Amino acid sequence: MKIGIISDIHSNYYALKTVIAFLEGQHIDVLICAGDFVGYGPQPKECVNFFLYYPISHYFCLGNHDIGVRFRYSDYYHQEPIKQDHKILKTFNFRESAAEMLDRNAQDIQEDHFQFLFNLPFKQIFQLDHKKFYLTHGTPSLRRRENVGKYLLPPPLQDPRVTIDRLKNDKKAVSADIIIIGHTHRRFLIARDNFYSWSLIEDILDKKPTKFPLKFPFNKNRIILNPGSIGQPRDGTGNASFVVIDLDDEILEFCDLEYQMKNFYRLAKEKCAPGLQDSSFWANKFGYFSKE
Ligand SMILES: [Fe+2]
Repeated sequence: MKIGIISDIHSNYYALKTVIAFLEGQHIDVLICAGDFVGYGPQPKECVNFFLYYPISHYFCLGNHDIGVRFRYSDYYHQEPIKQDHKILKTFNFRESAAEMLDRNAQDIQEDHFQFLFNLPFKQIFQLDHKKFYLTHGTPSLRRRENVGKYLLPPPLQDPRVTIDRLKNDKKAVSADIIIIGHTHRRFLIARDNFYSWSLIEDILDKKPTKFPLKFPFNKNRIILNPGSIGQPRDGTGNASFVVIDLDDEILEFCDLEYQMKNFYRLAKEKCAPGLQDSSFWANKFGYFSKE
């Protein structure tokens, strides 16, 4: 079984369609997306449309920007803001330009796009070919829904003890073979022999230029995986980053694809809020984590 793993599309349909064409060429059986379908970018409708009608087996979850857009939509059009979103949004710290794009995306989408965002779960736990998967956007948690906006970073950016503390309140995360998260827009792979023993297999930021695809066998270990971002990568050239897992061969591949960046940057310049119009935002090379 082949699985395509993507995250953080951020209303960048140019990048999404390039990656999906590649994944279809790989004949994936399942698509997994770790959230942030919308926000930041100028193409929320095109992106959600694609996922609304996606024909093959898939598992999706909710990102913090998805909460921001659906909350604003419900506020504008239904006149009854989603109460739980309101509470969670208070714990996030969107910078001004990002908040502006949440507004614009909310005004751009239609009811069926809102329903797609409304129905996204905070996390998904499922099994594929005897492997237990745990999917969430930010940091796994049993009940703390605001963790959807909490970064889980690889060591040395975050002390592994902090990571363990954050994971261990959810037993389903502890027992999962493959934990998939997004949110940082920066790809990494952590292997764990058991819950308290960790080793960082790959954090790609410090290794540029890196040749893709990068392959890793994962048969012996449980793993925590971040596939990076499709729409606004923060760890390299600006190429869309994602992962393909082959469960039969137990091989994981970090992939990296160029897309029609010039066309997208032109659109971003025209339609994004000030601060998000420059190509350097969309091809952030410096691991930007200070604000969402
Ligand atoms: Fe994101």
